Amino acid sequence: MTDQAKTATLEFEGKSVDLPILSGSTGPDVIDIRKLYGGTGAFTFDPGFTSTASCESGLTYIDGDAGVLLHRGYPIDQLASKSNFVEVCHLLLHGELPTAAQYEKFENSITVHTMLHSQFDRFFEGFRRDAHPMAIMVGTVGALSAFYHDSLDIHDPVQRDISAIRLIAKMPTIAARAYKYHIGQPFASPRNDLSYAENFLRMCFAVPAEDYHVDPALVRAMDRIFILHADHEQNASTSTVRLAGSSGANPFACIAAGIACLWGPSHGGANEEALTMLKEIGTPDKIPEFIQGVKDRKFKLMGFGHRVYKNYDPRAKVMQQSAYEVLAATGRENDPLFQVAKELEKVALQDEYFTSRKLFPNVDFYSGITLSAMGFPTTMFTVLFALARTVGWIAQWQEMMADPSQKIGRPRQLYTGPTERDYLPIDQRG
Ligand code: CMC
Repeated sequence: MTDQAKTATLEFEGKSVDLPILSGSTGPDVIDIRKLYGGTGAFTFDPGFTSTASCESGLTYIDGDAGVLLHRGYPIDQLASKSNFVEVCHLLLHGELPTAAQYEKFENSITVHTMLHSQFDRFFEGFRRDAHPMAIMVGTVGALSAFYHDSLDIHDPVQRDISAIRLIAKMPTIAARAYKYHIGQPFASPRNDLSYAENFLRMCFAVPAEDYHVDPALVRAMDRIFILHADHEQNASTSTVRLAGSSGANPFACIAAGIACLWGPSHGGANEEALTMLKEIGTPDKIPEFIQGVKDRKFKLMGFGHRVYKNYDPRAKVMQQSAYEVLAATGRENDPLFQVAKELEKVALQDEYFTSRKLFPNVDFYSGITLSAMGFPTTMFTVLFALARTVGWIAQWQEMMADPSQKIGRPRQLYTGPTERDYLPIDQRG
């Protein structure tokens, strides 16, 4: 959207260029610098993209100062309390909450795609048993492109839709297999009569020797965790998916690239570190000593602070509620780690060191405790994030593919290496 009336004028080395100001439906205006290089011969410099809008998007809006997260306009707390993950997938992919008929059709399209090609299972056997489940995810999701040739034409919107559905449907099956392989148990096949979250929990925790019954409170918590991680604007892994997709790469390869990026501890791995931190603190009486260590910059308070949120992360409030519910359902209300977490949050929110820096709990502060109580080992935490984020990645990829102004992503640089020089034969080099 352009506001023709507004421009920003930039003067540089005697040249002046008028840069249009673009306004979105909400949020800060952006200065359109596409003509900057042509007009001035200069690039912009923004490592980490802290001031750069890389694309136009209608999916997710974050106001970090106000602690707001909206998907297609709907606040995350409303979606987490009133909706379900499949409905949120429809919302992200198609722009609207589904009618009852649309929901039935959409849910059915996912459930009929939950199985994997039987040849696909051989990939798992190729990994060492001690392979990290994320290593298995990166490899196997990329391998999907070798199995579904009929949905690889990225210029065909119907094939793009089929790939999106396949990814959302098969990701729980792949993630559960990565886990089962890791712990040496037989794979459990998907059950299409179960909900998305219940089917996933069953594939992770059912064993052939026993019937499997899952507490509805855990199913609800799993579904809510998927909703909370479904999309988060142009974060590192989403930007990776878009960049990979901008070259015309197939969607399975693009999602594998997103998973690789998510694996990094600065992105998907923080909930694992938050749980480790709580275990290291151990008991509430050790909190003052820990806080002093943070102030002395020996370590960070993991699960606190965010690049965008300078207020309470709206996902953290919902996650805290889920932690209460899961611990109650699993009879762990007095879990010592939960006591430490609650006390630590209370202390930090009253401490000037944290309040002056606008450091609030983020989604990862309570998610590790919750997932651990549900029975997941820490190595699976990032896998669950990848499973849930797949819909966001593929919806953003779809949006990019349908955008007529889409170009291959090709940033420039500030070159600081040697200038041109002549090659010297080896016997003349000093
Ligand atoms: N504990 C202690 N001090 C902190 C923390 C923390 N968790 N986070 C930031 N600070 C301090 C930092 O030292 C700096 O202080 P000073 O100005 O005195 O040097 C100030 O706060 C500003 O920090 P910053 O590094 O400029 O902030 P940032 O926006 O670059 O970093 C962050 C954001 C998420 C990387 C950081 O807050 C952090 O490392 N948090 C802990 C890890 C974590 O929980 N990550 C999960 C993010 S949520 C998951 C997601 O959405 O993907």
